[in-house]
Amino acid sequence: MLRGKRVLLIISGGIAAYKSLDLIRRLRERGADVRAVLTRAGEQFVTPLSVSALTEDKVYTDLFSLTDEAEMGHIQLSRNADVLVVAPASADILARMAAGMANDLATTVLLATDKPVLAAPAMNVRMWQHPATQSNLEVLRDRGVMIVGPNEGDMACGEYGPGRMAEPLEIVAEVSNFFQTASGPLAGRRALVTSGPTHEPIDPVRYIANRSSGRQGHAIAMALAEAGAEVTLVTGPVDLPEPPGLTTVGVETAREMLAACQSALPADIAVCAAAVADWHVADAADQKLKKADGQATPTLALSENPDILATLSKSGPERPAVVIGFAAETEDVVAHAQAKLARKGCDWILANDVSPAVGTFGGDRNTIHLVSPDGVEDWPTLTKRDVGRRLVQTIIERGPFAE
Ligand code: C5P
Repeated sequence: MLRGKRVLLIISGGIAAYKSLDLIRRLRERGADVRAVLTRAGEQFVTPLSVSALTEDKVYTDLFSLTDEAEMGHIQLSRNADVLVVAPASADILARMAAGMANDLATTVLLATDKPVLAAPAMNVRMWQHPATQSNLEVLRDRGVMIVGPNEGDMACGEYGPGRMAEPLEIVAEVSNFFQTASGPLAGRRALVTSGPTHEPIDPVRYIANRSSGRQGHAIAMALAEAGAEVTLVTGPVDLPEPPGLTTVGVETAREMLAACQSALPADIAVCAAAVADWHVADAADQKLKKADGQATPTLALSENPDILATLSKSGPERPAVVIGFAAETEDVVAHAQAKLARKGCDWILANDVSPAVGTFGGDRNTIHLVSPDGVEDWPTLTKRDVGRRLVQTIIERGPFAE
């Protein structure tokens, strides 16, 4: 995956810079060409000579070196790369990147580049946790900078916590993953996935919910991203980490979920895996409902929620080319799914049995029947991850983008 890829490695100041020497070796042994820029602070930790010995190339350090500018200007440095990797990325260089500064060769290259950038932060745990660093990261992430790490552990400064630079092989994996994604079969396609339950408030402390864990929806979103799609995952409250490499939007209610889906359009692919509540409490109380002696038990009046799948399936310029829904049933699974396919107007339904005895909710496995206008295909019981992969494979092979 890395053969012939050109990596411009920017080494900023930090004790983790010694690991970047190993990173150069690891990238090169996988066939990548590595050219390095060393900041002034970086030079305090590793010498240009060791970097140059490992890249077998000149090391670029100075913005105003006449020979460098004559041989290879800062614009050329980024033009000649397929990806820029900042490792270690100190708190200082992240701040300068976020502010758009160009006060040395490294930041000038980073500001001038139109190439993807991956940063591997490394710093003291308090510097990492500082709101300034966190907000710089948010800015950078929003601009599409990929971040790997930091890891948690003992730090050179004697403290313990997040701040250790990701290991060289983790950074290599991230770079490889990027190239795989960029050339994946769904590269250039946008996908929208809903996942998890919705929470419909009764009052500020109580809500109506369901047992969806979000595992299946999240696995589908990850599989789509692995195939190169640009994925927006709209998820209700779940106890799962945000999957890397995609945009996650957290919502609570069905109405919020619909709004988030609509703002994620246009999309080529939509998969509605969320267990959306059918109703919300009509007049949710602003204050906590109180139990008082002698008062009647309150009754909840419910109003219908919008149907996100049916809304996305409606024909129109914004309709995704393929819209896929789920049918979680406890009996007559396939028959109900066929009726749902027609009612919702989607292209395919993945029907599954969610009877308590089957253990689909919160479990790791799922037994799917793919229901389409062409018929029913029974899949074997698979892990939710493999269901995600199989669905993506089916979209690639039989979806509207198939050749
Ligand atoms: O009607 P039912 O809830 O059984 O339909 C399930 C399918 O419809 C799932 O794909 C689910 O994500 C979707 N759905 C939705 N919005 C709703 C209800 C269901 O997107 N309000």
